[in-house]
Amino acid sequence: MPLSLRWSREAKRKGRLLKVWWKRPQVSDQVFSTQGILQQVDPYFWREHHFGLPRARWDRLNGCAFWVTGAGTGYGRAISLALAAAGAQVFLTGRRKEKLQETLDEGIALGINIDLCIPVVADISVESDLAHAVEIISQHVSHLHGLVNNAAFPQPGVGPYPLADLSLAAWSELFATNVTAQWLTSRTALPLMTNSGMIRIIFMSSEAGWASTPGFGPYNVSKSAVNTLGASLAAECVEHFPNHDVQVNVLVPGEACTEMNRGSTESPYSVVSMALTLLSHPPEGPNGYFFHRDGRHLAFAYSTAYMKDLLVQK
Ligand SMILES: NC(=O)c1ccc[n+]([C@@H]2O[C@H](COP(=O)([O-])OP(=O)(O)OC[C@H]3O[C@@H](n4cnc5c(N)ncnc54)[C@H](OP(=O)(O)O)[C@@H]3O)[C@@H](O)[C@H]2O)c1
Repeated sequence: MPLSLRWSREAKRKGRLLKVWWKRPQVSDQVFSTQGILQQVDPYFWREHHFGLPRARWDRLNGCAFWVTGAGTGYGRAISLALAAAGAQVFLTGRRKEKLQETLDEGIALGINIDLCIPVVADISVESDLAHAVEIISQHVSHLHGLVNNAAFPQPGVGPYPLADLSLAAWSELFATNVTAQWLTSRTALPLMTNSGMIRIIFMSSEAGWASTPGFGPYNVSKSAVNTLGASLAAECVEHFPNHDVQVNVLVPGEACTEMNRGSTESPYSVVSMALTLLSHPPEGPNGYFFHRDGRHLAFAYSTAYMKDLLVQK
């Protein structure tokens, strides 16, 4: 029986039902935010603003190696280029080679050293593609410091009642990319991260992972599964690799104009400040927590929000 229910029965006996029944846990009443996370940044001025990262945090990324999926468009492109701007080696994965090339072209236009960006064409839902991707990555580095599990599929448009109308094939395709592939990529990348002692994984979720909006059921379920995948992997990694710096977290990027959301006017660079804040965090940072790109720390299901500022200098 949930604790609150036991308390409420106890309270009823004592004639204090309403007072206790409506009392929420203290933590969920608070919205904790990290201050200084930038939202509207012009990527052309990255040398000046470093996407909001203090100099020491920006410098921590220099020389690290990260793998970003869905790096040929949208949020993945923005995060990849910002990591390279900070001096990190970045492995950019997507299925379309020409989109990965467009990311490199954008990097050149932004004055970023794109020699640090290695395109690795792969379908992350295919195990052999991932094995091949690791072969390519291993030709360049002996270890990785982090992974951004960003690639995903929007919900196939089948009308207003997809949970009634979607075909099994379309459901399976959605989950193969949005959930199974994120797990597979993490599993594939873990040995390279244990080599570095640093296990930094960001799972890109969505507000949909908290929602039950009619018309978006399958996508909502896939993002809710990503939330649980991120938190479960975080808990498993910290037990399995007790001597490693494990920080596996879930990031809600909010809306931006990307291939999957042409209707937004927000820039995908709006996610960079929070993504880099998480990836550059010193050891003993958050693990198994949920964050919004605007700096808010979130809770999911029974989890509580992380209650320390992510940018406070140690
Ligand atoms: N934009 C928004 O408003 C919004 C809001 C909430 C959450 N999100 C989340 O943000 C993340 C990034 O999305 P986005 O908005 O940047 O959309 P996007 O531009 O459509 O990016 C999705 C990327 O995933 C790649 N991809 C898809 N399936 C793949 C596969 N099987 N293997 C490898 N790569 C694959 C695509 O490249 P290829 O087709 O070349 O493979 C594409 O580059 C997603 O997790 C999304 O759910 C976005």
